[in-house]
Amino acid sequence: MPASPTTLPTAPAAALPLEGKVAVITGGASGVGLGIAREFTAAGAHAVITDLRQDALDAAVAAIGPNCSGIVADVTRLADMEAAYRQVTERHGRLDVVVANAGIGAHAPLGAITEEQFERTFDVNAKGVLFTVQPALELLPPGGAVIVIGSTASIRPPRGMSLYGGSKAAVRAFVRAWIQDVKGSGIRMNILSPGAVDTDSLRSALAMAQGAEQVEAAVRSMGEGNPTGRIADPRELGRAAVFLAGDAASFVTGIELFADGGMAQV
Ligand SMILES: NC(=O)c1ccc[n+]([C@@H]2O[C@H](COP(=O)([O-])OP(=O)(O)OC[C@H]3O[C@@H](n4cnc5c(N)ncnc54)[C@H](O)[C@@H]3O)[C@@H](O)[C@H]2O)c1
Repeated sequence: MPASPTTLPTAPAAALPLEGKVAVITGGASGVGLGIAREFTAAGAHAVITDLRQDALDAAVAAIGPNCSGIVADVTRLADMEAAYRQVTERHGRLDVVVANAGIGAHAPLGAITEEQFERTFDVNAKGVLFTVQPALELLPPGGAVIVIGSTASIRPPRGMSLYGGSKAAVRAFVRAWIQDVKGSGIRMNILSPGAVDTDSLRSALAMAQGAEQVEAAVRSMGEGNPTGRIADPRELGRAAVFLAGDAASFVTGIELFADGGMAQV
């Protein structure tokens, strides 16, 4: 039989998909990032979460357990991210996975968009992603993985969410170009795009828009509008991220994986 032209890793499969790997997850103190950190540690990784506030990081680390640690770092400040990666290298001696998750979104209809809203949204969601990924490149080994958290808003921005949708479309384009820039490095890069996820930030946005007493009904109604009949648990994004981070996705790069219960696919 002719030899296969493809060389797949022949090492025995690790018991856990991310066994021994070290991952940095930005904005990991709450919501989707926290769900990803939980699933990464369950999959055998050490999760280093970064966020803006020490108290929020401490609470998240206490909730996840010993395979999680926290570093205060603002993704909009390159110096913060460089310092965070220095700490990761000193403490762990390696970095295998980077999840650029920190993101913000505010209702801003055309006609009422301020310069401040534009700058803040693109600072965190676009510039922040760039300066999360770029300083990590020299640390990531062949087989390393970058996951950028996008949104269904990249292809279907809701009314009043042009800034948010535009910033998510921007990072989608970043990744298409970046996989060419890193050709030959063995580093994979993908977008993971949630639809609605049941997070504190989603619930407080709904409370602000519709009143606290309407939140449960609004969450139910968002779920009913979804082919799956519900919105996501943050850990479901975590499980999709485990796939993209691990060797099971060894030939998957440059995609936008929608973990949206089908919401933006119909
Ligand atoms: N929740 C949803 O329904 C949903 C849907 C689609 C996409 N997303 C995306 O998922 C990601 C996480 O969103 P979430 O819903 O978990 O929000 P969240 O507000 O619960 O969590 C975001 C975290 O990022 C942190 N953060 C904000 N600015 C930061 C900065 N400059 N530097 C470092 N950390 C910062 C916050 O403190 C917070 O802990 C975002 O990229 C968001 O666009 C969320």
